[in-house]
Amino acid sequence: MTAAMLARQEAVAPYSGFAVGAAILTGKGRTITGANVESASYGLTCCAERVALFKALTEGERSFVAIAVAARLAGGPTPCGACRQLLSEYAPRALVFVVDSKDPHRARTFKMSALLPHPFGEFRGKPHRRPARSQSPV
Ligand code: THU
Repeated sequence: MTAAMLARQEAVAPYSGFAVGAAILTGKGRTITGANVESASYGLTCCAERVALFKALTEGERSFVAIAVAARLAGGPTPCGACRQLLSEYAPRALVFVVDSKDPHRARTFKMSALLPHPFGEFRGKPHRRPARSQSPV
């Protein structure tokens, strides 16, 4: 919770003014943080949860125990649909803690399976496999 609150201070949110911080706890006991980054295109904005998850994945982490998300919102910010899909793929067993930065001692806790009951999962743990080619491309 504390790490998510601190990460929130690094949000780059000039358009919405809505700062979000996230902290992901790995199976190795590391805490990796992220904050939302916005674009003038709006659509290219990346949520704090995805920044933290992408940082962790690209630092070699594959096992995730929990993710905390903090923003100034009553009840805390539950992750958006896009973040739910990605967390379901890479951190399906992680607990999700959400907290209002004004009331940091009252977190709500969710299981990923409750936030996104039937995630898309075509590749079933083999996300980087390419389909077999019948002929060599060269
Ligand atoms: N945002 C997050 O970072 N996480 C959430 O769970 C919800 C929304 C960001 C995206 C955007 O920068 C701002 O909050 C307003 O939607």
